[in-house]
Amino acid sequence: MASEKSFSRKRQTDIFLGSLRGKNRTIPISFDKLHDVAKQKMSKEAYAYIAGSAGREITKKSNCTDFNQWKITPSMLNDVSECSTDISLFGHRYPVPFLLAPIGVLDMAHPDADLAVAKASAAENVPFIFSSQASVDMETCSSVMGDSPRWFQLYWSTSDDLVESFVRRAESCGCEAIVLTLDTTMLGWRPRDLDLDYLPFLRGRGIAQYTSDPVFRKLMKTSLGDADEPPKLTWNSIKALIKMAKNYPGGFWSNLLSKDPRRAVKTFIECYSRPSLTWDDLSFLRSLTDLPILLKGILNPNDARKAIERNMDGIIVSNHGGRQVDGAVSAVEVLPNIVKEVNGDIPILMDSGIRSGSDMFKAIALGADAVLLGRPYSYALAIAGKQGVQEVIQNYRAEFELTMALSGYKNICEVKRDSLFKF
Ligand SMILES: Cc1cc2nc3c(=O)[nH]c(=O)nc-3n(C[C@H](O)[C@H](O)[C@H](O)COP(=O)(O)O)c2cc1C
Repeated sequence: MASEKSFSRKRQTDIFLGSLRGKNRTIPISFDKLHDVAKQKMSKEAYAYIAGSAGREITKKSNCTDFNQWKITPSMLNDVSECSTDISLFGHRYPVPFLLAPIGVLDMAHPDADLAVAKASAAENVPFIFSSQASVDMETCSSVMGDSPRWFQLYWSTSDDLVESFVRRAESCGCEAIVLTLDTTMLGWRPRDLDLDYLPFLRGRGIAQYTSDPVFRKLMKTSLGDADEPPKLTWNSIKALIKMAKNYPGGFWSNLLSKDPRRAVKTFIECYSRPSLTWDDLSFLRSLTDLPILLKGILNPNDARKAIERNMDGIIVSNHGGRQVDGAVSAVEVLPNIVKEVNGDIPILMDSGIRSGSDMFKAIALGADAVLLGRPYSYALAIAGKQGVQEVIQNYRAEFELTMALSGYKNICEVKRDSLFKF
């Protein structure tokens, strides 16, 4: 059992004794309750955007249920009084084998959005991957993070100058890696958002990395289009104009009278992503930076091999939480084949469906070097802002450490495929 000094023991004590000492938890422990309470806190649009996935959401469900095909086979009497959960990735040591996934438009969950997550991740020293679709720009987030770790997730724009500008800014912000997301060159078919006729970006939400960017500001000047035509005034268009004015940098009233917020949305729609991207384009990104580059959205062993051939530093096995291709393989289902193909050449991270410390353990045992936590932290954010995110990180850390120790392992390197049984 983990020792008195262990993180999990301390977390359990904090929880059990906390209420006696007047220190109450802010979020439920189990994922299902976390989800239910967060749902009550959010607007219907926010809940649809965060919880929703593509199509009939079969892939979203199988991301979670496919973990059940694997069972842990704990081994006894291994002296697990001292356990270590830390890992090394690209020359950096991290205290736990998980990072906070890039999640766009976090102001849908909570007004403090990315800033709250940045503070929580810094307090727990767990890397936060800034999203290209963030609600708060990377400079503002970095400014509250001290030396704690952060990465940057990139959507490849139609403008290579903008790609370069994002990469340079990420470098200046102290990001330790670039995550290039490959699976969202177009938005998936997401019935929950479509049923509500709601896409946050059209309200100027989730475009803070763009509106704070000098190259994007220049692009805005050249892509005026119909943004300069006065919009038809309907109740919905007025609400949208107000939201755009609120979300655009500068004063609300001057923004309301200015065309810039609408120009920003229009320019964003034109340039946010490039569906024509191919493997050959990766050399451009490779030439831009010495930071490690990871490809996110890999589901096919052949693509994993191509990533290695193109000098990429790592991959993230992910189906974007089932938000892009409904009916696609679950991430955990395909992980063993990808691990086999990569054969230790580059680190493999995975996400999509991680809902407990036990899921994390299984992913590591199947060969992932680390995992990304996604929806659980956005629900914690919705419920309790920074404090909620800190608690969810602590809970996953504690549960992972306990799963490892109670299964007979003292450190991550010992957690291997033979600790699992396929059902
Ligand atoms: C609301 C929401 C927004 C997301 N935004 C991004 C994003 O901006 N960039 C990105 O690479 N992935 C994004 N993702 C995908 C996550 O990084 C991650 O792959 C996914 O959440 C994993 O699935 P899970 O949360 O169901 O475990 C988003 C996911 C959600 C739920």
